[in-house]
Amino acid sequence: MKKFYIETFGCQMNVHDSEKVIGTLLSKGYEQVDTPEGAELVLYNTCSIRDKAEQKVFHRLQQFKRDHGKGKVFGVLGCVAQQEGERIFERAPHVSLVCGSASYNKLSDLLVQIENGDRRVTGLSLNTEDTFDTPMTRRDNPNRAYITVIEGCDKSCAYCVVPFTRGPERSRTSESVLEEARRLADTGYTEIQLLGQNVNSYRDPSGRGWDFARLLRAVADVPGIRRVRFTTSHPRDFVKDIVDAIDENPVLCNHVHLPVQSGSTAVLNRMQRLYTRDQYMRRIEWMKSTRRGIAITTDIIVGFPGETEADFEATLSLLDDVEYDSLFSFKYSRRPGTPALALDDHIPEEEKSRRLTFLQEHQRFIQIRRNSENVGLVEETMVEGFNHATEQWIGRTSRNQTLNFTHPVHTAPGNGDNLIGCYLPVRVTRAGPNSLAGEALSAAG
Ligand code: 5AD
Ligand code: SF4
Repeated sequence: MKKFYIETFGCQMNVHDSEKVIGTLLSKGYEQVDTPEGAELVLYNTCSIRDKAEQKVFHRLQQFKRDHGKGKVFGVLGCVAQQEGERIFERAPHVSLVCGSASYNKLSDLLVQIENGDRRVTGLSLNTEDTFDTPMTRRDNPNRAYITVIEGCDKSCAYCVVPFTRGPERSRTSESVLEEARRLADTGYTEIQLLGQNVNSYRDPSGRGWDFARLLRAVADVPGIRRVRFTTSHPRDFVKDIVDAIDENPVLCNHVHLPVQSGSTAVLNRMQRLYTRDQYMRRIEWMKSTRRGIAITTDIIVGFPGETEADFEATLSLLDDVEYDSLFSFKYSRRPGTPALALDDHIPEEEKSRRLTFLQEHQRFIQIRRNSENVGLVEETMVEGFNHATEQWIGRTSRNQTLNFTHPVHTAPGNGDNLIGCYLPVRVTRAGPNSLAGEALSAAG
């Protein structure tokens, strides 16, 4: 039995790709181990969204350089593999396999080539019609499962490597998505997260021709599925029908992640984001006027080339206007091959750091205010774990908030008390900037 170790960096697409890679390797007779030391095959599934993420894999490879010759095979998968290609062999000569996500269908063949004595093999073609569908997916979470609905990205945001690392958009047929959802429901999964770099541009390649809203409604109707989430959305392709679908069907979680990147239309133009601040705000208004109250989260980049103090203030005022429930914020990072490299007026690193800290502090107050509005409400909560230090259960609401709670009967996991995977009504009693706390109302549901 050949032993392999895999470490995953980056987004949920990468996490799910690793689940598929693991499933494929297990079906080929490999065994997964927890440390690189114990493995013959060491794989890194990498991210190159920002420079820091890319550096991580080279640090890891450096650590194991001296193990070269001890019979280990090193492989680099994912976005750094696609971006750097054969240059990885120069920077890390002990690597034998370099394979991007659009070539995972060939991964087993590439490993056979290595077994047959090839020193260096690559899978770097982006010319694939296929998505990486595999019945052998090994899923880590017993309650929440990911399903890829679309791979790749056809947008060309000026800062972003993804169109180069994940190739052009390829949608899966709705039938294959639904079949996977039904199979997951049959094996006990209750929450499904639909994945894609831009799920909103989903187009069913089969005769049905469904768009994303239609697909969402159909997945929500699969018996046994209690929650459906999706990520990630591009505002340009985010249509009102998606909001209507969420408002109509409680199985569709009332949370939308809608990355805005900047609150300044001038910056959005230079980023080639294809929408203005006003157009973005219209989408926010659709969500704010729903009956269910949709939680809204976003991504922000500070210090994009040419971002003036006034542009930055426009982003702060957008945070006030939207009142996001949460956000991810990043300093702009130069990425190889991207259009933004050619722009003038790159912002000094210290200034980017200042803006990032200021923005995060600004948002903290918004979240304290937003979260405190939840005190007194009863939220349906899916139990994800137990914190032994605080003796609280850890749950998640449909709005994607973490809700830590006590239970009058079930005070710890074990002895038949395990609530993990259950859905419970929990009354919110306290709110912090990043989570809520409360008390469960009744027995497991
Ligand atoms: N620099 C900083 N942040 C970036 N992102 C994407 N590319 C870059 C970059 N070059 C951020 C965007 C995106 C999130 C996944 O990562 O905000 O939405
Ligand atoms: Fe990182 Fe983007 Fe690749 Fe995901 S798609 S792993 S975020 S570079």
